[in-house]
Amino acid sequence: MRSYEIAVVQGDGIGPEVCGAAIEVLKATPVSNCLRFVEYPAGAGHYRATGDAFPRETMEGCRKADAILHGAAGLPEVTFPDGTEAGIDFGLRLRFGLDLYANVRPIKLRPGVTSVLHGRKPGDIDYIVLRENTEGLYAARGAGVSLRGEMAVDSLVVTRKGTERIVRKAFELARARNGAPGDGKRRVTCCDKANVLRTYAFFRRVFDEVADEYPDIERDYAYADAMTVHMVERPERYDVIVTENMFGDIISDLAAATVGGMGMSPSAELGDRNGFFQAAHGSAPTIAGKDIANPYGTILSAASMLDWLAERHADEGLRGAARAVERAVDAAIAAEAGRTRDLGGSASTREATRRVIDALGAAQ
Ligand code: IPM
Ligand code: MN
Repeated sequence: MRSYEIAVVQGDGIGPEVCGAAIEVLKATPVSNCLRFVEYPAGAGHYRATGDAFPRETMEGCRKADAILHGAAGLPEVTFPDGTEAGIDFGLRLRFGLDLYANVRPIKLRPGVTSVLHGRKPGDIDYIVLRENTEGLYAARGAGVSLRGEMAVDSLVVTRKGTERIVRKAFELARARNGAPGDGKRRVTCCDKANVLRTYAFFRRVFDEVADEYPDIERDYAYADAMTVHMVERPERYDVIVTENMFGDIISDLAAATVGGMGMSPSAELGDRNGFFQAAHGSAPTIAGKDIANPYGTILSAASMLDWLAERHADEGLRGAARAVERAVDAAIAAEAGRTRDLGGSASTREATRRVIDALGAAQ
């Protein structure tokens, strides 16, 4: 039986709690014997202690591992001299260093979760925000200019190569899905501001070129500002939305808010060789250490890690385990006692995790 090395970075704030929850769940799956967890330090706490937010050994450990699992990193008060946050250096440099260009953020209203959008039930909202993850406005991280206390400039970078590969990924994802919940159509929406900036007009031009290769999938466009309105007013129309890095950061939070909040929002950051799995939320330091954080986003990210490994290694056992974890999460949330505070319940992090593990056990 093949075994997989999982690099684990717990991080700061609620990071260790939600990451610990996901590992406990993975250890309760039938594939636990195939998973080897190796912990590495990174983040704001590590920066405070050592002056280094992302040690070289952590980078190398992540590079050589079969997958990377993360809690969350960063503390607002721990900053570099330029004023930016030190702890988030881990996730950001990992994206660039391992070329994790595709940030896949599934937005799905799950049974037991009440949407803030009126009248939406499970099944009505089910789309992917596909965020370009290595260029756009984030490409300037650490490389912008801040001049004499008078001005600062960061550059927005859009390349042909970067756009082609993310758009192709969007169409491939759409091909593998069942279409938008509203009308069952497979559809990829290009979210940009092509009306205003050359970078986005270029992004849209490349989108059109790639879309020509996928005549079976509907192409669609939305300006980023209008996109936020559509996501609130008619979310059932969406299937896959592809967008620039910064827009993807913003609209994926809004999208998460429509399906139960950031605690229900998994993500997978994928390159051609490496995969990095964490919930889309941050380290939430104000609720850290209180056993009240919602662990489901990280647990669902761990399920998508199993899925990604299954696909890469043609390992059906892992695929089965991924589905089992997802079903166990749904079973845990279906009961009111399994819902954490953010979902309107009172379950602790540990209680929610225990319920997922119990559901896994019951299914075996
Ligand atoms: C995310 C987060 C990160 C980002 C932060 C923590 C650097 O908000 O993954 O969406 O801005 O990309
Ligand atoms: Mn974000």
